[in-house]
Amino acid sequence: MIKVAPSVLSADFGNLQRDVEAICDAGCDLVHVDVMDGHFVPNLTIGPVVVSSIAKCATKPLDIHLMVENNTFFVDLFAPLKPEYISFHIEEEKHPHRLIQKIRSLGIKPAIVLNPHTPAEAVEYLLKDLDMVLLMSVNPGFGGQSFIDTVIEKASRLNALRNKINPDCLIEVDGGVSDKNIKSLKNVGVDVVVAGSYVFNHSSKKEAIESLQI
Ligand code: DX5
Ligand code: ZN
Repeated sequence: MIKVAPSVLSADFGNLQRDVEAICDAGCDLVHVDVMDGHFVPNLTIGPVVVSSIAKCATKPLDIHLMVENNTFFVDLFAPLKPEYISFHIEEEKHPHRLIQKIRSLGIKPAIVLNPHTPAEAVEYLLKDLDMVLLMSVNPGFGGQSFIDTVIEKASRLNALRNKINPDCLIEVDGGVSDKNIKSLKNVGVDVVVAGSYVFNHSSKKEAIESLQI
């Protein structure tokens, strides 16, 4: 069954505890946290003060998605919060293999993110050491954008690669995910989906989450 990681970016930040508890109670599998630095992406979100408040009220593991220029600095900032995953963009890292090893040495599962233009093959020689690859199905920076459907073919290529090299490595997709595209994602082997606006704008978070857990 597909795992669902609602993106807190679409929560009401004036009622953050209420919303984090609501998605956990509604049966989500992970809590997706988008960290943006205003440099790698044209948006600025939250740092360790707010993320530690999220960690305190979340009853599901955190999935931290870094959209930043200085990955190592941010890994050190968030590691004490003991997230399940930290993912970083391959487009912004000169030494991805070294950073994977560092994240794992901190007791956290390492994941790499690919922007819409980055081919699946970019992670071929890293797959053996990864717990997850996150494919962006929007340009990173904002919630509520339209799904870029070339990610389906990319996920299918990545599925073939990971089945050959490391079947335990999960495939996650982030951006514009809803009940409209979940079947196509399932068909190409996607294991985890991030959903922000779809879950938070739905009249029932539980129904929204369950409609993706197929
Ligand atoms: C975009 C973020 C996403 C975003 C998803 O840069 O990485 O996690 O919040 O939001 P939706 O599901 O609304 O596209
Ligand atoms: Zn994200």
